[in-house]
Order: sequence, then structure tokens, then C-alpha cells
Amino acid sequence: ASNIMWGGRFAGGPAKVMEKINASIDYDKRFYAQDIRGSIAHATMLADRGVLTREDLTAITDGLNTILREIGEGRFEFSAALEDIHMNVEARLRELIGDAAGRLHTARSRNDQVATDFRLWLRDAIDRLDGMLADFQRALLAQAEAHAETAMPGFTHLQVAQPVTFGHHMMAYLEMTARDRDRFAETRRRLNECPLGAAALAGTSFPIDREATAAALGFDRPTANSLDSVSDRDFALDYLHAASVCAMHLSRLAEELVIWSSAQFGFVKMSDAFSTGSSIMPQKRNPDAAELVRAKIGRITGSYVALTTVMKGLPMTYGKDMQEDKEAVFDAADTIELSVTAMTGMIADMSPDAGAMGRAAAQGFATATDFADWLVQNLDMPFREAHHATGAAVRMAEAKGCDLGDLSLEELRSIAPGVSEAVFEALTVERAVHGRNSYGGTAPAQVRAQIERWKEKLA
Ligand code: ARG
Repeated sequence: ASNIMWGGRFAGGPAKVMEKINASIDYDKRFYAQDIRGSIAHATMLADRGVLTREDLTAITDGLNTILREIGEGRFEFSAALEDIHMNVEARLRELIGDAAGRLHTARSRNDQVATDFRLWLRDAIDRLDGMLADFQRALLAQAEAHAETAMPGFTHLQVAQPVTFGHHMMAYLEMTARDRDRFAETRRRLNECPLGAAALAGTSFPIDREATAAALGFDRPTANSLDSVSDRDFALDYLHAASVCAMHLSRLAEELVIWSSAQFGFVKMSDAFSTGSSIMPQKRNPDAAELVRAKIGRITGSYVALTTVMKGLPMTYGKDMQEDKEAVFDAADTIELSVTAMTGMIADMSPDAGAMGRAAAQGFATATDFADWLVQNLDMPFREAHHATGAAVRMAEAKGCDLGDLSLEELRSIAPGVSEAVFEALTVERAVHGRNSYGGTAPAQVRAQIERWKEKLA
């Protein structure tokens, strides 16, 4: 049988495989609430402009609300023959209210419908995710507060660099997450224009009021160019980019959890709730959740690449290629939400081992820079010379198999003659950490100031 929406032009129906490749209902049914909301706004505007009668508007609105309930309660039968959510809803509306259903599609097209639904859906997804990211920040903040004084080795190249605090380290991720939230907020701000009324591509000769539908749907304004309205998916790419960067940050923290929870580091113990055992090795506690969060960026960035590639080279305006936009975004949204939630749980639940971190902070010549700084500050040595002398001291300690602070005063004087007993104080982890009191530095006073600032922001 030919299609009920455009059957007038066709004598025969589609091939089975045509229906299969063409239908998007399996995934775009996730737009049902947005689609119905958009239709009600459109019908209301048409009635206000005298294009629809009040009776038709009432029938359409009641029918759409019935469909909203049917779908919400799982009582709706989706049909692949009806391709997508837009036509599934309209066909059901016709069953419910008869011919008036056919008037709803005046002055609009599925092209502006799908662009509108997608923006509405992403807006909700971004708002939901923002709440999750704020919760994640709160979990980081709680660990930072508990460990504002806990020393750990700070790394560059994963080689011991200088002592920092675990709280400072947690707060670094909190700052990254703040920028992630900002990227999503920026995406939301940019996408919040209403394409409805662009019709298929060129606008319409009906006396529609695009300002009214935009306002009814919570958009800041209608889109300015009807061709652009139906043909771009840059807003979805913005979201996928923001999600990729966010997933990249989570992946780095996940990797740190994997390293930290290994026996060789022992900096944190992951909770039972986020660990798994081995079916053969009884001693195992594997950080599976962290490993999965480390991996999830693959599919999110994959979605970004997939959709940019779909959009590349498409001539204006709408092409069916663009139907491939939704699965990429849905999968990325599900994945980032799952990742953030799992990471929040892991951070909230983990037990940092202050003793193990403190011991590690005192190893690996972590305070070598402090020795060089002492030579500059107390002997007025140029930093480059101090750096050289410190290098020699490290080499000597390494040869003896001890740490810098274990060398005798005599040994240190053989390298830098003016050195006094006071230098040993400068070589302690405590002093190294507390001394770095520059704005944004690792000194507990600085970290606590940042914690206070964020507590207010996240309250
Ligand atoms: N299901 C379609 C999509 O997701 C809706 C728009 C279809 N428009 C069209 N002219 N075939 O892109």
C-alpha cells in the first residue's frame, strides 16, 4: 500500500529493505514528548492567527495529550511503516480525532519539526547533565576538604616532581569540570533558537507568528534564516564536542584511579561497590568501573567524528543523511551521563590512604626544587647554578641509596660550601607543601581558600 502521508504521488509501496533503511522510529521515539509539545505550540499559534478554528485546536490538543499519555504509559504501537516519530504521532492523531488531524501540518514540515524536537531534547539533556556534573563537583569538593593537608607526590611525565596535596589534586578536576559545565551551557545558549515555521526550507505564505511559537517553547527567539534552520546540525556537534572534552577529563581521572588503586601505589582504596573480583585470582580487586569510564570516551568522540562526517559536504538544505544525527547524540548522551554518575560514586566512595601518599611524597627527591630554591634564597646563588648543584646532590644521594635529606651537612657542603643546618628543614615535605603559597598553589591555605569559594558556588 502507498503511504498515507504522501500516497497521492505513488502507486506502489516501498521495498522491505527501503522501509528498514528509511525508518528512524526505533530511536527517534525518544523525541515523543518534545514532538507533541512542539505540535501543541504550533497548533495554538495557528488558531491564534485564524488559520485553525478553535474547535480544531481543542480536538488536536486533546488528541495530542492523549497520545502523550499513551506513549508515556507504554500503550502506543509504533510503526516502522510510518517512518518516524512525527508521522507516528500524526497518524495516531487521525485515528483519534479524524480529519482535523490533517490540519495540524499546515505551515510546517518534518524538517523544522525534527530540528525543533532535537533542540528541545538537547536542552533537557544539558540541564540534566549539568545537575550531574554539579554533584560530581560536590564529591570532589568533599574529598578535597578532607585532604587539604594530605601530602602526595605531584607528577610530571608520571615521574615524581614536587609534593602537592591530595586536596589540591581533587580541586584540579573540579576546575576542569567547571569548564565542562560552561561548554555545555554555551552549547545550550547557542542552540536555543526555534526553527519551527521554517517549513520545509523556504518559509510559508501562511500568516504564522514565529515569535509566539518560539516563546511558547522556551526559546530565546526564532531562527533568522529558514534555509539554515532546517539544514544545520552544528548544535548537535557542539554538544558532542563538549561531551568529548568532558569524557576526556573523566578518562584522565579514571586512569589515575586505576594507577592509585594498584598495590604498587596504594594511594586510594576503591570501595567494594565500584570494584570487581576475579573468578580465578582470589586476591583481586579490579577497578572495572574506572577502566570503563577511561574507555567510554571512545564512543563519544566516535559519535562526534561520525556526525561531522555525515554533515561534511552536504548541499543545502535538508538531506536524509541528517537522520543519522540522532543515534550518535543519544548514545553520547547516555554514555556521558552514565560515566559522570559512575565517577561521582567512585570519588565519593573511595578511601584515600594519607599514610601511603605521604610516604611516597617523601621519596623520589620530591623536594629537590626546594633545595635549589634554598640555595637561591639563602646563598644568593643564581638559579641555574643552584639547579646544577642540586643535581649533583641528587646524584650523590642516589649513589648512596638515600634521599636528599639523609645526606650529611658535610656532604652537602662538598657541593655547595655555604650550606647550613637550616637547609634540612626546607627539605621536608611539610615545608615544601606549605611554602607554595602563591595564588592557586598547593599550600593548604590556598587550597582551603579555593574550597571555600566553591562551597559557596555549589551550595
Ligand atoms: N526522520 C527524519 C529525520 O530524522 C525527519 C525529517 C524528515 N524529512 C524529510 N523530508 N524526509 O531527519
